[in-house]
Amino acid sequence: MAEVVVQADRRSEGILINDDWPGYRLDLFNYPAHYSGDLDYVIIPHGVIMDRTERLARNIMDDLGDHDIVVLCVLKGGYQFCADLVERIKALSRNSNRTIPMRVHFIRLRSYLNDQSTEDLHILGAEDLSFLAGKNVLIVEGIVGTGKTMETLLKHVEAFRPKLIKVAGLLVKRVQHSLACVPDYVGFEIPNRFVVGYALDYNEYFRDLNHICVISESGKKKYKV
Ligand code: HPA
Ligand code: MG
Repeated sequence: MAEVVVQADRRSEGILINDDWPGYRLDLFNYPAHYSGDLDYVIIPHGVIMDRTERLARNIMDDLGDHDIVVLCVLKGGYQFCADLVERIKALSRNSNRTIPMRVHFIRLRSYLNDQSTEDLHILGAEDLSFLAGKNVLIVEGIVGTGKTMETLLKHVEAFRPKLIKVAGLLVKRVQHSLACVPDYVGFEIPNRFVVGYALDYNEYFRDLNHICVISESGKKKYKV
Protein backbone atom coordinates (compact mmCIF):
# COMPACT_ATOMS: atom_id res chain seq x y z
CA MET A 1 0.00 0.00 0.00
CA ALA A 2 2.72 2.46 1.04
CA GLU A 3 4.46 1.94 -2.30
CA VAL A 4 1.39 2.99 -4.20
CA VAL A 5 1.17 6.22 -2.22
CA VAL A 6 4.82 7.11 -2.85
CA GLN A 7 4.37 6.51 -6.54
CA ALA A 8 1.28 8.67 -6.70
CA ASP A 9 3.18 11.51 -4.98
CA ARG A 10 6.13 11.24 -7.34
CA ARG A 11 3.84 11.58 -10.32
CA SER A 12 2.99 15.18 -9.54
CA GLU A 13 6.64 16.16 -9.11
CA GLY A 14 7.83 16.60 -12.66
CA ILE A 15 11.41 17.09 -13.85
CA LEU A 16 12.94 19.81 -11.72
CA ILE A 17 14.61 22.71 -13.53
CA ASN A 18 16.50 24.82 -10.98
CA ASP A 19 16.61 28.62 -10.87
CA ASP A 20 20.34 28.65 -11.69
CA TRP A 21 19.97 26.36 -14.73
CA PRO A 22 21.56 28.40 -17.57
CA GLY A 23 19.70 26.49 -20.30
CA TYR A 24 21.08 25.80 -23.78
CA ARG A 25 22.50 28.45 -26.07
CA LEU A 26 20.08 29.21 -28.90
CA ASP A 27 22.71 28.83 -31.62
CA LEU A 28 23.06 25.15 -30.67
CA PHE A 29 19.55 24.51 -32.03
CA ASN A 30 17.41 25.39 -35.04
CA TYR A 31 14.71 27.95 -34.37
CA PRO A 32 12.78 30.40 -36.58
CA ALA A 33 15.06 33.23 -37.76
CA HIS A 34 12.29 35.79 -37.18
CA TYR A 35 12.78 35.27 -33.44
CA SER A 36 16.50 35.98 -33.36
CA GLY A 37 17.19 38.43 -30.54
CA ASP A 38 13.79 37.78 -28.95
CA LEU A 39 14.88 34.86 -26.76
CA ASP A 40 17.43 34.41 -23.96
CA TYR A 41 17.96 30.65 -24.03
CA VAL A 42 16.36 27.26 -24.65
CA ILE A 43 15.05 25.97 -21.33
CA ILE A 44 13.53 22.69 -22.64
CA PRO A 45 14.42 21.36 -26.09
CA HIS A 46 11.58 19.88 -28.14
CA GLY A 47 12.98 16.34 -27.99
CA VAL A 48 13.01 16.36 -24.19
CA ILE A 49 9.39 17.53 -24.14
CA MET A 50 8.49 14.58 -26.37
CA ASP A 51 10.35 12.07 -24.19
CA ARG A 52 8.72 13.35 -21.03
CA THR A 53 5.29 13.34 -22.69
CA GLU A 54 5.75 9.69 -23.57
CA ARG A 55 6.29 8.86 -19.91
CA LEU A 56 3.32 10.96 -18.77
CA ALA A 57 1.17 9.06 -21.28
CA ARG A 58 2.24 5.81 -19.65
CA ASN A 59 1.43 7.09 -16.15
CA ILE A 60 -1.98 8.24 -17.36
CA MET A 61 -2.67 4.89 -19.03
CA ASP A 62 -1.70 3.04 -15.85
CA ASP A 63 -4.12 5.16 -13.81
CA LEU A 64 -7.00 5.74 -16.21
CA GLY A 65 -6.61 3.02 -18.83
CA ASP A 66 -9.58 0.96 -17.67
CA HIS A 67 -12.29 3.41 -18.72
CA ASP A 68 -13.23 5.87 -21.43
CA ILE A 69 -11.45 9.19 -21.09
CA VAL A 70 -12.75 12.62 -21.95
CA VAL A 71 -9.77 14.85 -22.64
CA LEU A 72 -10.41 18.54 -22.00
CA CYS A 73 -7.75 20.47 -23.89
CA VAL A 74 -7.22 23.98 -22.56
CA LEU A 75 -6.61 26.28 -25.54
CA LYS A 76 -4.60 27.83 -26.84
CA GLY A 77 -1.43 27.12 -24.85
CA GLY A 78 -2.27 23.47 -24.25
CA TYR A 79 -2.95 22.45 -27.83
CA GLN A 80 0.49 21.11 -28.75
CA PHE A 81 0.99 19.22 -25.50
CA CYS A 82 -2.54 17.82 -25.74
CA ALA A 83 -2.07 16.69 -29.35
CA ASP A 84 1.24 14.97 -28.57
CA LEU A 85 -0.04 13.46 -25.31
CA VAL A 86 -3.15 12.04 -27.00
CA GLU A 87 -0.93 10.59 -29.76
CA ARG A 88 1.24 8.84 -27.17
CA ILE A 89 -1.79 7.51 -25.28
CA LYS A 90 -3.19 6.18 -28.57
CA ALA A 91 0.14 4.49 -29.39
CA LEU A 92 0.28 2.81 -25.96
CA SER A 93 -3.33 1.81 -26.29
CA ARG A 94 -2.64 0.26 -29.73
CA ASN A 95 0.33 -1.67 -28.41
CA SER A 96 -1.54 -3.15 -25.48
CA ASN A 97 -4.67 -5.24 -25.34
CA ARG A 98 -6.69 -2.47 -23.78
CA THR A 99 -7.73 0.17 -26.24
CA ILE A 100 -9.45 3.09 -24.54
CA PRO A 101 -12.12 5.18 -26.21
CA MET A 102 -11.11 8.84 -25.96
CA ARG A 103 -13.05 11.98 -26.68
CA VAL A 104 -11.24 15.26 -27.03
CA HIS A 105 -13.04 18.48 -26.20
CA PHE A 106 -11.61 21.98 -26.41
CA ILE A 107 -12.15 24.87 -24.07
CA ARG A 108 -10.54 28.22 -24.30
CA LEU A 109 -9.16 30.32 -21.47
CA ARG A 110 -7.50 33.65 -21.66
CA SER A 111 -6.03 35.46 -18.70
CA TYR A 112 -2.65 36.84 -19.79
CA LEU A 113 -1.85 40.22 -21.35
CA ASN A 114 1.84 40.81 -22.03
CA ASP A 115 3.49 38.74 -19.31
CA GLN A 116 0.94 39.55 -16.61
CA SER A 117 -2.00 37.50 -15.42
CA THR A 118 -5.24 39.51 -15.61
CA GLU A 119 -8.06 39.17 -13.11
CA ASP A 120 -10.81 38.48 -15.58
CA LEU A 121 -10.71 34.89 -16.70
CA HIS A 122 -12.79 33.98 -19.71
CA ILE A 123 -13.89 30.38 -20.22
CA LEU A 124 -15.19 29.75 -23.72
CA GLY A 125 -16.61 26.48 -25.07
CA ALA A 126 -17.41 25.27 -21.57
CA GLU A 127 -20.99 26.45 -21.34
CA ASP A 128 -22.54 23.00 -21.46
CA LEU A 129 -20.28 20.22 -20.28
CA SER A 130 -23.15 17.96 -19.16
CA PHE A 131 -21.66 15.12 -21.23
CA LEU A 132 -18.92 14.92 -18.57
CA ALA A 133 -21.33 13.47 -15.98
CA GLY A 134 -20.01 10.13 -14.69
CA LYS A 135 -16.93 10.27 -16.96
CA ASN A 136 -13.19 10.13 -16.30
CA VAL A 137 -11.93 13.55 -17.29
CA LEU A 138 -8.36 14.52 -18.07
CA ILE A 139 -7.74 18.26 -18.21
CA VAL A 140 -4.67 19.07 -20.29
CA GLU A 141 -2.96 22.42 -19.72
CA GLY A 142 0.30 23.80 -21.14
CA ILE A 143 1.42 25.81 -18.12
CA VAL A 144 0.22 26.28 -14.56
CA GLY A 145 1.40 29.52 -12.97
CA THR A 146 -0.40 30.65 -9.83
CA GLY A 147 -2.87 27.79 -10.17
CA LYS A 148 -5.76 30.26 -9.99
CA THR A 149 -6.84 29.61 -13.56
CA MET A 150 -6.82 25.88 -12.92
CA GLU A 151 -8.74 26.30 -9.67
CA THR A 152 -11.49 28.27 -11.43
CA LEU A 153 -11.63 25.74 -14.23
CA LEU A 154 -11.77 22.79 -11.82
CA LYS A 155 -14.72 24.34 -9.97
CA HIS A 156 -16.47 24.86 -13.28
CA VAL A 157 -15.87 21.26 -14.41
CA GLU A 158 -16.76 19.72 -11.03
CA ALA A 159 -20.23 21.24 -11.28
CA PHE A 160 -20.97 18.85 -14.17
CA ARG A 161 -20.34 15.85 -11.86
CA PRO A 162 -17.67 13.79 -13.62
CA LYS A 163 -16.65 10.52 -11.96
CA LEU A 164 -13.01 11.55 -11.76
CA ILE A 165 -10.96 14.59 -12.73
CA LYS A 166 -7.21 14.43 -13.33
CA VAL A 167 -5.05 17.31 -14.49
CA ALA A 168 -1.98 17.04 -16.71
CA GLY A 169 0.20 20.15 -16.90
CA LEU A 170 3.32 20.19 -19.04
CA LEU A 171 4.89 22.98 -16.99
CA VAL A 172 4.41 24.14 -13.43
CA LYS A 173 6.03 27.42 -12.45
CA ARG A 174 7.63 27.91 -9.05
CA VAL A 175 5.80 31.03 -7.91
CA GLN A 176 6.19 32.70 -4.52
CA HIS A 177 2.89 31.83 -2.90
CA SER A 178 1.91 28.19 -2.73
CA LEU A 179 -0.09 26.89 -5.64
CA ALA A 180 -3.87 26.87 -5.41
CA CYS A 181 -3.84 23.74 -7.55
CA VAL A 182 -1.07 21.33 -8.53
CA PRO A 183 -1.64 19.03 -11.51
CA ASP A 184 -1.70 15.25 -10.98
CA TYR A 185 0.75 14.79 -13.86
CA VAL A 186 3.54 17.34 -14.24
CA GLY A 187 6.06 17.42 -17.07
CA PHE A 188 8.54 19.94 -15.68
CA GLU A 189 8.76 22.29 -12.71
CA ILE A 190 10.37 25.50 -13.96
CA PRO A 191 11.69 28.80 -12.52
CA ASN A 192 9.38 31.80 -12.37
CA ARG A 193 10.38 33.19 -15.78
CA PHE A 194 8.16 33.95 -18.74
CA VAL A 195 8.55 31.09 -21.21
CA VAL A 196 7.35 30.72 -24.80
CA GLY A 197 7.23 28.09 -27.52
CA TYR A 198 5.54 24.70 -27.98
CA ALA A 199 2.21 26.60 -28.24
CA LEU A 200 2.91 28.91 -25.29
CA ASP A 201 2.63 32.52 -26.39
CA TYR A 202 3.48 36.08 -25.56
CA ASN A 203 0.61 38.14 -27.00
CA GLU A 204 0.01 35.37 -29.57
CA TYR A 205 3.64 35.28 -30.75
CA PHE A 206 6.06 32.33 -30.39
CA ARG A 207 3.50 29.54 -30.79
CA ASP A 208 5.45 28.58 -33.92
CA LEU A 209 8.59 27.79 -31.93
CA ASN A 210 9.23 24.10 -31.13
CA HIS A 211 11.49 24.44 -28.11
CA ILE A 212 10.43 26.03 -24.85
CA CYS A 213 12.53 29.17 -24.40
CA VAL A 214 12.86 32.09 -22.03
CA ILE A 215 11.83 35.34 -23.74
CA SER A 216 14.35 38.21 -23.71
CA GLU A 217 13.64 41.76 -22.53
CA SER A 218 13.89 43.00 -26.12
CA GLY A 219 11.48 40.28 -27.22
CA LYS A 220 8.98 41.46 -24.60
CA LYS A 221 9.33 45.05 -25.83
CA LYS A 222 9.02 44.12 -29.48
CA TYR A 223 5.71 42.26 -29.06
CA LYS A 224 4.18 44.33 -26.27
CA VAL A 225 0.60 45.53 -26.81
N1 HPA B 1 4.39 31.73 -20.80
C1 HPA B 1 3.25 31.70 -21.53
N2 HPA B 1 2.03 31.72 -20.99
C2 HPA B 1 1.95 31.74 -19.64
C3 HPA B 1 3.10 31.75 -18.84
C4 HPA B 1 4.38 31.75 -19.44
O1 HPA B 1 5.45 31.77 -18.78
N3 HPA B 1 2.68 31.77 -17.54
C5 HPA B 1 1.34 31.75 -17.59
N4 HPA B 1 0.88 31.75 -18.85
MG1 MG C 1 -1.15 32.86 -23.45
